[in-house]
Amino acid sequence: MTLRRTALSMALPVFCLGAMSLWTRPAAHWLAQGPLQQGHEEVSCAGCHTPSPGSTRQQVQAKLAYSLGWRAADVDFGNGPVTSDHCLDCHERANERHPIYRFREPRFEPALQQVRADSCLGCHSEHLGERVSAEPTFCRACHADLALTRDPVNIPHVTLIAAGKWSTCLGCHDFHGNHSYDPPTHVQQMIPGAAILGYFHQGAPPYGPFKLFEAVAR
Ligand code: HEC
Ligand code: HEC
Ligand code: HEC
Ligand code: HEC
Ligand code: HEC
Repeated sequence: MTLRRTALSMALPVFCLGAMSLWTRPAAHWLAQGPLQQGHEEVSCAGCHTPSPGSTRQQVQAKLAYSLGWRAADVDFGNGPVTSDHCLDCHERANERHPIYRFREPRFEPALQQVRADSCLGCHSEHLGERVSAEPTFCRACHADLALTRDPVNIPHVTLIAAGKWSTCLGCHDFHGNHSYDPPTHVQQMIPGAAILGYFHQGAPPYGPFKLFEAVAR
């Protein structure tokens, strides 16, 4: 009896460790992720990777139950997925021109087929060493029928849109409206497309250095 108990008490931790090594990803994988984007140098891993609900013991039990078919749904072990809520913890701001929650309205469903504007991760991947991962022409998804009553631009918006010039939009407007920047009224003053792409890939902001809101690292 005591022997069986001892054997069991020794086998259990070994079993648990074995099971855990199957469920947690190996340390090499954890470390092999690509570089964080600029601005996130000071942000800790835990700023975006937070533990999933439940204690380790509860997670192990739930995993075990799932693998034995006693539980319908699997659970996240260790860290849960990164969501927009993590980003908003540091980046929520009052001046947001395109707040993601707006695009959860059903009328934006067709637009979301083109660009996942309802999630930060739809346009910002992490660990790729780039600031923006979307196509710069994504404005098309929502502004195709834009017409200004008094258009101040020398080539009016309707003309730009009719000609399919979707790569010009970011040349005059920042997407979030967080830079103190007035859009020019002449297409000749537009920021060149190469500078926009450079900015997407970590270059200096072409809209000037002044931001209305700046996040704080934690
Ligand atoms: C700004 C947010 C952010 C920070 C900071 C961050 N990550 Fe990530 N990480 C992500 C996102 C987004 C993904 C994509 C997967 C996801 O959505 O869960 C990811 C994925 C990963 C993955 C792959 C996850 C998997 O399930 O395979 C690993 C490993 C990882 N990160 C490690 C790290 C480490 C180590 C650090 C600190 C040096 C770090 N991350 C910092 C956002 C971040
Ligand atoms: C723990 C706080 C924190 C979290 C979480 C966080 N960030 Fe950041 N982020 C910062 C800081 C600090 C900066 C640099 C200051 C700034 O640009 O406002 C930054 C910069 C950025 C920049 C570049 C700004 C620039 O002009 O260079 C982008 C894009 C960005 N974050 C997106 C995200 C996204 C998307 C997520 C979620 C996956 C996220 N951040 C999560 C703190 C955070
Ligand atoms: C539909 C695409 C899209 C989505 C969704 C999106 N972004 Fe962006 N983001 C961009 C583009 C394009 C830029 C570059 C233009 C600019 O600076 O506004 C950018 C720039 C940024 C910057 C740097 C400039 C600034 O405003 O400070 C930060 C920080 C940022 N995004 C954070 C976020 C966060 C946090 C979320 C989710 C709440 C998010 N973004 C969702 C497209 C997107
Ligand atoms: C997912 C849909 C969606 C996408 C994609 C989108 N917008 Fe918008 N945009 C909107 C909505 C909705 C409004 C608010 C219009 C209103 O209030 O009448 C808006 C407003 C604006 C405004 C006016 C903001 C203000 O405060 O007056 C500008 C400028 C703008 N968008 C430019 C862009 C540019 C440039 C792009 C591409 C980089 C883009 N938008 C992509 C939906 C979108
Ligand atoms: C040459 C610069 C320039 C280009 C290119 C440009 N815009 Fe504009 N846009 C402006 C100016 C100037 C205004 C008026 C001032 C303002 O509202 O900020 C404006 C206004 C807007 C508005 C606000 C309309 C309102 O009701 O207030 C939206 C939305 C918009 N632009 C979207 C776009 C989209 C989408 C594109 C790409 C097809 C684009 N712009 C291309 C300069 C430009």
